[in-house]
Amino acid sequence: ADHQRVNFVIDYLNVSRLCHNKSLIAVNGMFPGPTVRVREGDHLIVNITNLVSHNVTIHWHGVRQVLSAWADGVAQITQCPIQTGQSFISEFQIVDQRGTLFWHAHISWLRATLHGAIIIRPRHKTRYPFVKPSHEYTVILGEWWNEDVEDVLAQALQGGRGYSIPDALTINGYPGALYNCSQHLTQVFPVNKGETYMLRLVNAALNFQLYFAVANHTLTVVEADAEYLQPLERDVVVLSPGQTTNVLIKANQPVGNYYMACSVFSPNSNTRNVPFPETAATAILTYNSSLPANISFPELVLPSFPSFDDVVFVANFTKSLKGQSYSKGYYYYSIPTKIDYDLFYTVSYALQPCATCLAQPFPNQRLSASINNQTLVLPQISLLQAYYNHLNNTYEEDFPDFPPYVFNYTGIAASEIAVSTLGTKVKVLEFGKSVQIVFQDTHSLGYESHPIHLHGQNFFIVGEGFGNYNASLHPSTFNLQNPPSRNTVAVPSGGWAAVRFTTTNPGVWFMHCHLDLHTAWGMSMAFIVRNGKGKNETLPPPPSNMPPC
Ligand code: C2O
Ligand code: CU
Repeated sequence: ADHQRVNFVIDYLNVSRLCHNKSLIAVNGMFPGPTVRVREGDHLIVNITNLVSHNVTIHWHGVRQVLSAWADGVAQITQCPIQTGQSFISEFQIVDQRGTLFWHAHISWLRATLHGAIIIRPRHKTRYPFVKPSHEYTVILGEWWNEDVEDVLAQALQGGRGYSIPDALTINGYPGALYNCSQHLTQVFPVNKGETYMLRLVNAALNFQLYFAVANHTLTVVEADAEYLQPLERDVVVLSPGQTTNVLIKANQPVGNYYMACSVFSPNSNTRNVPFPETAATAILTYNSSLPANISFPELVLPSFPSFDDVVFVANFTKSLKGQSYSKGYYYYSIPTKIDYDLFYTVSYALQPCATCLAQPFPNQRLSASINNQTLVLPQISLLQAYYNHLNNTYEEDFPDFPPYVFNYTGIAASEIAVSTLGTKVKVLEFGKSVQIVFQDTHSLGYESHPIHLHGQNFFIVGEGFGNYNASLHPSTFNLQNPPSRNTVAVPSGGWAAVRFTTTNPGVWFMHCHLDLHTAWGMSMAFIVRNGKGKNETLPPPPSNMPPC
């Protein structure tokens, strides 16, 4: 395996969008940040230097971090952050995955501008299980904020209702032709008629699930979260924050120019009247260099998107994704059929008492979020260091397997678990065991489709549905043949999703909603996976340059 060395220098960068200048935090002077290119099996050695006056960490989202939990890059979970003027070397191997992932800051809301793609090519002499595209493009879907995102976050934590929204959606950092002051910066993707292209899609938005489509073209989904899928043809694909998807697109339309676009999917029943960006971010697919310098964008037609809250469309899309058949006995890939840990986690909005919070509609309370009524409080030192060094009093091991009350979770105005409990609780898992987690959305304070992300390993998404999960009914409907293996599952709004995985990777693994507002509000917890007994089943000691707390 090769060693790939990369330098990340984190510094301020002046960027202008929507006629608004801003100094933002960026890696190597790029927004979005640089693409990291590796091959399956490579060792990646990233030297991260922090030159800004804010603590930083960098997380390798979806990378399995086999025996390298110290490199996962989650502030207060796997490391203390890199302080101003300091460096940290993040070193890990890419094991058993290939496709598109992304890296991002994992502290407060810095990932708004600190993110970029990770492209993992398959091993030498292995082929894609689909037609090899003639060319590939990375397409990062994100947001532009005129405000400082750290200010927005501070407001959201002080009882602001948290419906703060970005000023534009973006494609590779550009809002595109439909926004003010943006036409000249619209991204252009040249194609040649008759050829097939691969688009590596990343949803790096902070708080929005997104639809993505290209006018007049069909997309063939072939991969998600760095795992191959059975090819699936669709006009519109859906990505939650934290999800990545590779699609093939054939340039089979009349020579011309076509909009590529993303727009918001948001089923939150509380935000129906919130003016989130209704304008699609656009880029242009241009055939045979046919883009005239004076093109008038209004002549181009947007792809047609489902309505912003079309939960049925989204459920049909996600249920249609099927994994490739996984080679049996290859332990990362075996789908658990008997369950050692049977967990039922409600994912919910919640309330916290807050004397200074006067904002409506909850005077003297602030919105927060919870899993099984627990709202995570981040510890002062990292959980991984506390676990490794047997430091008591940092966390408790009694994260509950069930919610504290049984109620009609998706009934109207169920408020039984509205006020959540603060704490730093983990769930301890022994090595080599099978885990099932059913995530249940609740109507406490409103439906939402929470994209739940697990660090350190993928899970198989074996089932999902609307309404309340029924343990005597639903398991018989699970797909145990070819479920997709993913690192993020968007739990259906007003519904449930079931995932399974095997504990093959010792360490501390964060699990949280990938809507950053909800992460900050505490819809987060961590698993400790203990060491196994065999060789290569033990977490190595930390690297010598771990940042101090
Ligand atoms: Cu994309 Cu916890 O991260
Ligand atoms: Cu959420």
